[in-house]
Amino acid sequence: MSADVTVLGLGPMGSALAGAFVAAGHRTTVWNRTPGKADPLLRKGAVEAASAGAALGAGPLTVVSLSTYEAVQEVLRPLAGELAGRTLINLTSGPPVCAREMDAWAEHAGAAYLDGVVMTTPSGIGSRHFLQLYAGSPTVFEEHRETLAALGDPVYVGADTALPSVYDTTLLCQMWSTLTGWLHSVVLIGADGPGGNVTATQYTEVANRWMDTVRFFMDAYASQVDSEQYPSGDFPLDLHRATMGILTHASELRGADTGMPELFTALTERAIAAGHGNDSYARLVEFVRREGRPGAAPA
Ligand SMILES: NC(=O)c1ccc[n+]([C@@H]2O[C@H](COP(=O)([O-])OP(=O)(O)OC[C@H]3O[C@@H](n4cnc5c(N)ncnc54)[C@H](OP(=O)(O)O)[C@@H]3O)[C@@H](O)[C@H]2O)c1
Repeated sequence: MSADVTVLGLGPMGSALAGAFVAAGHRTTVWNRTPGKADPLLRKGAVEAASAGAALGAGPLTVVSLSTYEAVQEVLRPLAGELAGRTLINLTSGPPVCAREMDAWAEHAGAAYLDGVVMTTPSGIGSRHFLQLYAGSPTVFEEHRETLAALGDPVYVGADTALPSVYDTTLLCQMWSTLTGWLHSVVLIGADGPGGNVTATQYTEVANRWMDTVRFFMDAYASQVDSEQYPSGDFPLDLHRATMGILTHASELRGADTGMPELFTALTERAIAAGHGNDSYARLVEFVRREGRPGAAPA
C-alpha cells in the first residue's frame, strides 16, 4: 500500500514533488495559498484541500515546499495544535539555523520532523539520478524512505537538521568548481592550435571517464584529510606544481582566462614554500582554510 502524502506549496518545486508522488501511486493531497495552481495536478489525480489545516489533516505525512522558512512558519504556526503525532518533512531551502529552529518548534508541537534539501531543479524530480538530502531522526527517515524514493534518490546525512542546508552549499561549491574546470578545459581543447578543434561533446566523452580517476583521488584523500597525514605516493605537490605551469602557459597561449589555474597554483606554491612539496594534493586543505582559523596552516 502506498502511503498518503500531503504537499503544502505548489510553486514549481512543490508542484513537481506532488506530481512525483501522484505518479508513484500515492494518494496526494495538495494545498497552495493562491488558488488555481493545483489544477494540473488535480487532472492527474491529486486532491486539493480547501485550507492548509485540511491538507494537514488528510494524512500523517506532510511535505512542505514554500519559498522561505518564514513562509513555513506563517502557514504552520496557526496549526501548531494539530501537529501532534504527525510527520513534517520540510524541503524548503534556507539557512542551517532556521532548520534547527523549525526542528525545535516541531518537536515542541509533538511532530516528527525531517529537514531536507532538493539537489535538482523541478524537472529532475522523480529521477533516481538526482539527490534529496534529509536529516533528523534516522527512524523517521527509514519509516518514510520508500515514499521519499518517489522523488529521487533519498540520502540520509545525519541527525542534526542543519546538515542538509550545509551540504547544499558545499555540494554546489563542488559543482561550480568542477563545471568551471570543465569549461576551462573545453575552451583549451577547442581553441586553434596543436591538437585543437576538439568539440565539447568529443572532449566530454573522455572527461566523463576521467571523473572516475578524480573520484579515486577524492576517496584516497578524504582519509588523509581526516587523519591529517598526507603521504604523496608517486604524485607529490612538486610534480603537481610543474604540471600546473603547463596549464597556465597553455591558457595564456590559447586565450583562456588564467584566474582558475592561478588560484590552485598559488595554493600549491604556498604549500611548497611551507615545506610540503613532497606531500599529496590533499595537504592543500590546510591552505584553503583561512589563516587565523582553527587548524589553519602557518602563514
Ligand atoms: N525551483 C528550483 O529549482 C528549486 C531547486 C531547489 C530547491 N528549491 C527550493 O524549493 C522551495 C520552493 O521553490 P519553488 O521553486 O517552488 O518556488 P518559490 O517561489 O521559492 O516558492 C513558491 C511557493 O511558496 C509559497 N509561499 C510563499 N510565501 C508564502 C506565504 N507567506 N504563505 C504561504 N505560501 C507562501 C507560494 O505560494 P503562492 O503561490 O500563494 O505565492 C508557492 O507555493 C524554495 O525554498 C526553493 O529554494 C527550488
